[in-house]
Amino acid sequence: MSETPGAAYYATTPIFYVNAAPHIGHAYTTILVDVITRFHRLKGDDVHFLTGTDEHGEKVAKAAAAAGVTPQAYVDDISGQFQATWDRLGIAYDGFIRTTDPAHRKVVQDVLQKVYDNGDIFYGEYSGLYCVGAERFVTEKELVDGKCPESDDPPELRVEANYFFRMEKYRPWLREAIEANPDLIRPERYRNEVLAMLREPIGDLSISRPRSRVPWGIPLPWDDEHVTYVWFDALLNYWSHLVTHGTERRYWPATEHFIAKDILKPHGVFWPTMLKAAGLPLYQHLNVHGYWLADERKMSKSLGNVVRPLDLHEKYGNDAFRYFLMRDMSFGLDASFHEAGIAERINSDLANDLGNLLNRTLGMLGRYTGGAIPAFGALQPADEALRDAFLALPDAVTELFDALHFDRALEEVMAAVRKANKYVADQEPWVLARDPADAERLGTVLRSVVEALRVASVLLEPVLPAKARELRAQLGLDDAPATLGDARRWDGATAGAATRPGDPLFPRIDLEALAAAIAAPAEAPLAHKDEVTIDDFAKLEFRVAHVQHVEPHPKADKLLVLTIKVGPETRTIVSGIKQHYTPEQLVGKKVVIVANLKPVKLRGVESQGMILAAEDAEGHLAVTTLDRDLADGSEVR
Ligand code: MSP
Repeated sequence: MSETPGAAYYATTPIFYVNAAPHIGHAYTTILVDVITRFHRLKGDDVHFLTGTDEHGEKVAKAAAAAGVTPQAYVDDISGQFQATWDRLGIAYDGFIRTTDPAHRKVVQDVLQKVYDNGDIFYGEYSGLYCVGAERFVTEKELVDGKCPESDDPPELRVEANYFFRMEKYRPWLREAIEANPDLIRPERYRNEVLAMLREPIGDLSISRPRSRVPWGIPLPWDDEHVTYVWFDALLNYWSHLVTHGTERRYWPATEHFIAKDILKPHGVFWPTMLKAAGLPLYQHLNVHGYWLADERKMSKSLGNVVRPLDLHEKYGNDAFRYFLMRDMSFGLDASFHEAGIAERINSDLANDLGNLLNRTLGMLGRYTGGAIPAFGALQPADEALRDAFLALPDAVTELFDALHFDRALEEVMAAVRKANKYVADQEPWVLARDPADAERLGTVLRSVVEALRVASVLLEPVLPAKARELRAQLGLDDAPATLGDARRWDGATAGAATRPGDPLFPRIDLEALAAAIAAPAEAPLAHKDEVTIDDFAKLEFRVAHVQHVEPHPKADKLLVLTIKVGPETRTIVSGIKQHYTPEQLVGKKVVIVANLKPVKLRGVESQGMILAAEDAEGHLAVTTLDRDLADGSEVR
């Protein structure tokens, strides 16, 4: 068991492509790393948690072009959405890296130069099948029905002169390293997959793209007509982050990478050989999980079957959503996502077993001890059995967490919670309460359950960070941050302390109502305004306006000041759309304005009209544009 206090523990998620907003696949890996880092913090380890966004590459450049904005505006927007989502989900990351950060770019260039100077990079021509979705060359053998197994897109044939990294040269070394280190890549099936890849030549890795074709990337330090291949740039994030903060000695190679199986080859083959060529030690573990499937297919933007993490967080509560993700996936295997599964899991484990134990206990304490935590009397065998079951949990959970069996660790804790429920039923405190001669015995029983709940709350805290603390608060326990040591004692509560009962931790979900809602999502009726006549409507003047120039309002965070042309007139309009559009996204657009609105001053700037925009229930906003080009000044009726 690795319970050395202060041991370095550096855990990373993949850095996500900014070509789409986060879905629960991305959220799963990030929540998983949040859970495991919280667990290591509980153990007292020196933890560092890194996540971030992967912002270069053809895929991102294409997505920006499709959205009609500059790559930088585009990546700023989506990277911001990832950060905002992680913040809303309470992810306690220590670092958020963006590959467009100048500090990262510099480290990539330094490493490239070193590998180049060592003679491991050469210039050559290559032809092969390239998949833009996966951002890598794929082999004929890898294709499934002619399509890339990772992105499900057909690859394209490319012939290009590029710089190559001598990856093949390191193949024998990598095979030996993996063979000598049985759990370097885990679970074992992924280790076997990588070993299978290494049985045949892996070729050299093309690590540049001509700037003429892909201008969006990090220039090679010795030839700025080429930019760095996105995977070479992206993988280095794990290292560059530490270098930038001067913590590479502290955290490397105590490195735990967490990824899904889609990116096994870059992490299991490219990255170790890159590290070797750069003279750096290998990571500690590559931990590979399976996919969340929707309708038996991998959830992905291109398949249109994504589930948004924030929707579930809103609907079920953050901790319950985390619990479901951790409990219902076996690490390494795929899991099917069904919304009803979340509700069932919440009802059975969290509402019935854990929440119920807390409520019963608080109720009995209120009735029998005036809400005070009782002292232990002499322990009987049933009390000792309960104590032993709970005090065995910290070791069991540590072992299961270390082996990535998060689902089983939670099941162990819940099995103990069910034992505690049974203990209450067997000991019948309500019978003991009838006879004052049993007061001490009653105290011992209730106190045993309080200790059981307390120990469970400490072990569940990595998964239920808010609810575990709330549970302890309701039991009147002090709110000092928990440590694993708190789960190793049976005397953590203080006799005489007052409980503070509150709302149920996990309200039960009405499964029938949920099933009906999933089958036919009820749409709220629209709230219409009073009818107007055509004459009322005719009083309003709408016109096409051409956006010339946009700048932030000097005094207000949410406002933009737009200079627009309406036929021969130039006007200023102040609009509250700053959270939704960058100035670059607006300049050049033809929008529709209300042209005869009485001017008003908004924080000191006069607004001469209003831009029409639509907003949906989730607060997404879109300004009204025209589907064909018309002269500004044209009237809209
Ligand atoms: N940018 C690269 C990674 C570079 S790391 C140096 C990339 N980005 S990604 O946005 O496509 O993210 C892939 C990762 O998202 C997966 O490895 C996994 O962590 C997560 N997932 C995306 N879809 C998923 C599921 N359907 N199920 C589980 N995890 C999924 O690849």
